[in-house]
Amino acid sequence: MNQKFANDIQSGLSVAEKSIPYTYFYNERGSWLFQQIMQLPEYYLTGCEISILDTYKDELLDCFKAKKKRFNLVDLGAGDASKTKCLLQNYVEKGVEFTYTPVDLSTSILSALSESLDAAYPDLRHQAINKDYWEAMDDLKQNSSKSERKIVLFLGANIGNFTYKESVDFLTTLKSYLNPGDQVLIGFDLKKRPEIIYKAYLDSKGITAAFNLNLLHRINQELGGDFKTNYFRFYPYYNPQTGELRSHLVSQKDQTVKIEALNLEVKFEQWESIHTEISKKHTIKEIENLAAAAGFTVKKHFLDSKAYFVDSLLEV
Ligand code: AVI
Repeated sequence: MNQKFANDIQSGLSVAEKSIPYTYFYNERGSWLFQQIMQLPEYYLTGCEISILDTYKDELLDCFKAKKKRFNLVDLGAGDASKTKCLLQNYVEKGVEFTYTPVDLSTSILSALSESLDAAYPDLRHQAINKDYWEAMDDLKQNSSKSERKIVLFLGANIGNFTYKESVDFLTTLKSYLNPGDQVLIGFDLKKRPEIIYKAYLDSKGITAAFNLNLLHRINQELGGDFKTNYFRFYPYYNPQTGELRSHLVSQKDQTVKIEALNLEVKFEQWESIHTEISKKHTIKEIENLAAAAGFTVKKHFLDSKAYFVDSLLEV
């Protein structure tokens, strides 16, 4: 049994405002569902970010190559590198001197990625790190030479799943592993017409609903829960003032759920909810304040043609 999962579920479901940390979405089925979400037409984020990287790959390269030093492209939470591959392909074709370092917690994802990189780009130097972000950054700090510039990618609007304080802490910690001149490229989803944001989560095929309900399946499988998932409904809610899309699983009736491994009975009143995720939508001003709070300088914001999404390049 995953003890941390057990403890987090116990504490999240034993309080008045129930919640489950979003990090538990990503078991094997959840990761597969997220791949499906990224291909949904309503989930504009992925397509917008790919178009930004594709449009600005040359300008980004000019920014990454400082004073002809080699650079190391460190991809935090690389997954299958579907977004990064458009940069890799272009830089390999140009014969650019760089190393690619995908960082991910999933061993299987990283080995599949290494194989696909070897097949597609035999000349690419790559070295995956199968550790959490901070252990990986520590390895890189100990082992890389001063003459190599680190370019850290944190794509996919993953930062939007953090609270403001978590974002500042994340960027401040990241900066402590970097040297002056190193850069970070971060994907942020931007505020826009609320209907567009709402539809990206309440998708017509119900894949995002399945992605959320998978949390309950996971509790059933790993902790001996007896959640009846059809007694809960997914409800995303966007607040245009805060820019937060909040996801909930709402109990459709009074019910009691038993979780054997925790020796716990959880009572739900009708319409009570479990909060699962925050997906924050930013303004450019908020991004600039966040970068300043963590001590970074903003070099440039790269936006897609509809200004739905931005990849912001920050420098130490
Ligand atoms: C990974 N993360 C940025 C996604 C998001 O948009 O918050 C996860 C997701 N949740 C529902 N759909 C996609």
